[in-house]
Amino acid sequence: MASLLRSSTLRAARQVRPAAAAASLSTSFVRTKATLPDLPYDYNALEPYISTKIMELHHSKHHQTYVSGLNAALDSIAEANQAGDARKAAKAAPLLNFHGGGHINHSLFWENLAPASRDGGGDPSGALKTAIEKDFGSTEALVKQFNAALAGIQGSGWAWLAKDSASGTLALVTRANQDPVAGSLVPLLGIDAWEHAYYLQYENRKAEYFSAIWNVINWKTVGQRFEKA
Ligand SMILES: [Fe+2]
Repeated sequence: MASLLRSSTLRAARQVRPAAAAASLSTSFVRTKATLPDLPYDYNALEPYISTKIMELHHSKHHQTYVSGLNAALDSIAEANQAGDARKAAKAAPLLNFHGGGHINHSLFWENLAPASRDGGGDPSGALKTAIEKDFGSTEALVKQFNAALAGIQGSGWAWLAKDSASGTLALVTRANQDPVAGSLVPLLGIDAWEHAYYLQYENRKAEYFSAIWNVINWKTVGQRFEKA
């Protein structure tokens, strides 16, 4: 990620006038910091399925921590890169994966949700519906398998519906901690199985959370991601 950011900065540097270019290249590159995205709905909009307090803490505290951690990891890698210190850069890589994954996963997650009175709940439609029926038999069967995958996560993690961009087929996968879905798999719909996502409301009854969240799943967003993937 850091190398991509540096490439774009160097591209930008090449576009400045020659007189300014030397000065620009002699200074450290400037990158845009990751920021916490606004939610597309209010904290209380997913009641009664996800409580206001959970949404507020999950977004403003937990997600913010991943954003801050990602920026700190990128700063550390940039400093190591400038100093030619590969050992320091390698040391920061796990933090980049954890906090970068946390930021990416939660940014997708908020868009996966919508108030039940708006786009939340219901059933998928169009090309996504056809693909789900082809690969899982029915939406009901997909939800059943999804909930079983969530229940099978040991410790913290996520379950995802993803599209294999090579074969075009759908896949249900789990990831530990904040590991992002990567490679040929494009994440379409993720459900957060960390305790911070449900414990304040559902305590140890996490199966109730996995069952309730389908009332606020935004299938429209999932369908749009499917068609773009
Ligand atoms: Fe989370």
